[in-house]
Amino acid sequence: TSNQMWGGRFAAGPDAIMEKINASIDYDQRMAAQDIAGSKAHAAMLAATGIISDSDADAIREGLVTVLSEIEAGRFAFSAALEDIHMNVEARLRELIGEPAGRLHTARSRNDQVATDFRLWVRDQLDAADAGLVALIRALLTQAEAGADWVMPGFTHLQVAQPVTWGHHMMAYVEMFGRDLSRMRDARARMNESPLGAAALAGTSFPIDRDMTARALGFVRPAANSLDAVSDRDFALEFLSAASICAMHLSRLSEELVIWSSAQFRFVALSDRFSTGSSIMPQKKNPDAAELIRAKIGRIFGANTALMMVMKGLPLAYSKDMQEDKEQVFDAADSLMLALAAMDGMVRDMSANRESLATAAGAGFSTATDLADWLVRVPGLPFREAHHVTGALVALAEKRGCDLPDLSLADMRAVHGGIDDTVFEVLGVENSVNSRLSYGGTAPVRVREQIARWRERLG
Ligand code: ARG
Repeated sequence: TSNQMWGGRFAAGPDAIMEKINASIDYDQRMAAQDIAGSKAHAAMLAATGIISDSDADAIREGLVTVLSEIEAGRFAFSAALEDIHMNVEARLRELIGEPAGRLHTARSRNDQVATDFRLWVRDQLDAADAGLVALIRALLTQAEAGADWVMPGFTHLQVAQPVTWGHHMMAYVEMFGRDLSRMRDARARMNESPLGAAALAGTSFPIDRDMTARALGFVRPAANSLDAVSDRDFALEFLSAASICAMHLSRLSEELVIWSSAQFRFVALSDRFSTGSSIMPQKKNPDAAELIRAKIGRIFGANTALMMVMKGLPLAYSKDMQEDKEQVFDAADSLMLALAAMDGMVRDMSANRESLATAAGAGFSTATDLADWLVRVPGLPFREAHHVTGALVALAEKRGCDLPDLSLADMRAVHGGIDDTVFEVLGVENSVNSRLSYGGTAPVRVREQIARWRERLG
């Protein structure tokens, strides 16, 4: 038998393989709530504009409430023969209320219906990402506040570079996740237009009120062009690309946590709640959550790439290719939300090891730049010459097997006669970080200013 929704011109039903490749109900049932919200808004508008009767609209609304409660209670029998969530809901509505159900699809197509549902779904994810990012930023702020003046090595090339503070390092991630947050918000503002009423592609001859449905669904306005409204998925791609960048940041922080929690570093201890053990090695405490977060970028960026490829050659307007948008976005959204929540928990629970950080901060001649700067400031050497002299002092310390502050004044004066004992003031790591007072620098006063700015921003 042919399809009850569109089978009028068909003599035969679909092949089993056709049904299998065509059906999306296994996954798009996740948009049930959005589908029903869209249908309620549409039915109310059809009644307000006199396109259907008030009593039909009432029956539709009540029926849709029942359908949603059946779905939410897990009592709904989804059917692959009915392809997708849109036709599953409508078919059940017909069983429940009879003839008025057939009026719901007046002045509407599945093309504007799915575009509307999917926008609503993605909009919810942008809001969820927003909340997840705010929670993570707060967790980082707490860490930053606790260790605003704790010294640690700053690295370039993963080689010791200059001392920084723990708070400064945490606040670097706050800035990154803060931009992720603003990308989510920007994407939300841009995507928040209603496709509903675009119908199949050309609009409709019925006197619909697109402003009314847009308002009812929380959109700021109806999408301006019906062809565009049903045939672009850039809103989903923007979410995926913002999610990809965010996942990249999460992955970098994860990588640092993996390194920092190793026995060689001991910069942080992750909590038992966010670690796992080994089935053979009794001593092990592994940073699995960090590793899994680090890996999630693969799925998320993969989804971004996959949807780009799906969309890139499609002529306007709708093509069934676009049904392939949803699984990618669903999987990426699930991965991102889980990664954000796991990172939030890990950061909240972890404890930085102040002593290990401080010990490491002084290793590797990390105050060599401070020494070179001192040679510029006190004996008045040009920076290039100061750099050279400092290099010679580092080589000497390396030969002696000691750190820069351990060299004797006599040793130093043998390298450059302009050095006096005030040089030792700048060789300590505390002094080094305290002196980095430039805007955005690592000095604890600057770090505390950054923290205060973010606290104010988040309210
Ligand atoms: N399940 C379809 C999708 O996700 C709904 C739209 C179907 N429209 C159509 N003209 N066949 O894209």
